[in-house]
Amino acid sequence: MKTVLFYLSTNLIVIVQQNISLKEYNTFGLDSNAKEFVVVNSIDELEAIIQVFNLKNRKLLILGGGSNVLLANDFDGMVIKINLTGIEKINEDENHVWIKAMAGTIWHDLVLYCVENNYAGLENLSLIPGCVGAAPMQNIGAYGVEIKDTFVQLEAIEIKSAKHKLFTKSDCKFAYRESIFKNEAKGKYIITSVTFKLNKNYLVNTSYGAIKDVLTNNNIANPTIKDVSNAVIEIRSSKLPDPKILGNAGSFFKNPEINTELFLDLKEKFPDLVGYKISDTKTKVAAGWLIEQCGWKGKVVGNTGSHKQQALVLVNYGNASGNEIWNLALQIQNSVKEKFGIDIIPEVNVI
Ligand code: FAD
Ligand code: EPU
Repeated sequence: MKTVLFYLSTNLIVIVQQNISLKEYNTFGLDSNAKEFVVVNSIDELEAIIQVFNLKNRKLLILGGGSNVLLANDFDGMVIKINLTGIEKINEDENHVWIKAMAGTIWHDLVLYCVENNYAGLENLSLIPGCVGAAPMQNIGAYGVEIKDTFVQLEAIEIKSAKHKLFTKSDCKFAYRESIFKNEAKGKYIITSVTFKLNKNYLVNTSYGAIKDVLTNNNIANPTIKDVSNAVIEIRSSKLPDPKILGNAGSFFKNPEINTELFLDLKEKFPDLVGYKISDTKTKVAAGWLIEQCGWKGKVVGNTGSHKQQALVLVNYGNASGNEIWNLALQIQNSVKEKFGIDIIPEVNVI
């Protein structure tokens, strides 16, 4: 590794690390190498870096917490690690608050800030790893809530023009694990902040069965948002492997949304098939169930495998390469297609 200091202007200096391991920067714990690595600590730095390093002509990877990327190979370009932090109340009325968080803020820190201040809306999203700036990328969701439910707007910088741009909720084209930033705007913007509108009154969402069960077990009849947050933390900690102990990126695949007709046909053949109706014509199927039925759950393949408690989570047992995990993902995809005729699509961003 080599470290080079760059003067962006008379008062802005940035450190560029060359040939650096990204092991500490991705939750799979993959020892992939980056050609160049820069940590950005302010908007001024980011603007200067875009211009001085001519980012529009470079191969780039924008990185938050690295909890939704699979570094399949070494990265022959520049990694920009977003470290813009801060949480601010920017507006308030009788019932609501508008909270703006900078992109590098740890997501769970934002959730805890809201829970501690009794601002309702993000508590079901407790303990999701990663940073605020990546949350809109795939409209993060868990336990009956997605960020689109409280999202107001985000600020981003266009890499091509270095201009600031505001994206409203409709601009973002949110859908299940989708947004404009995974589609037509992919690779074009660096998200710098996200604003949420939260509720000052308790409006807890306990629609997800597992939350109700935990609250009942803990004898909580009238849950506060802190109770819901704690219940979600309890469920997640019991189900999902902690990346600090076992490398993973959460669900590797999205739950496929298939025609209800096909679902009903399959249900005749596989009566235990797990699915939830999401519209008049579509049913969302539990990918974890499909993968488990194909015999992958808990299976160890070299240095990798499908987790023993949650088949949808692929793990690194220590020395896996990104390619090894990707090969396992392809095998799983093929076997689900063969057995059920269903395509499962990665949720994780394969780099
Ligand atoms: P990264 O992995 O750093 O980046 C993800 C993508 O966003 C990359 O394409 C990257 O280039 C891009 N990106 C990151 N920051 C920016 C930025 N500022 N501007 C532009 N592009 C950017 N997700 C859920 O939705 N629900 C869950 O319940 C859930 N549970 C998880 C549990 C575990 C144990 C793990 C490891 C992951 C889980 N995830 C879940 C996935 C992951 O936590 C989320 O997708 C999270 O939002 C990723 O944040 P990050 O900062 O780590 O993003
Ligand atoms: N299932 C199995 N076998 C398994 C895993 C799951 O049969 O090995 C079946 C079970 O019947 C279970 C159902 O699948 O009832 C759903 O499982 P779970 O409640 O664990 O949720 P999931 O659909 O596997 C999704 C998200 C998670 C999110 C949880 C809770 C996706 C791709 N994943 O998982 O998000 O935390 O719901 O809301 O939508 C992530 O995106 O990384 C992530 C972890």
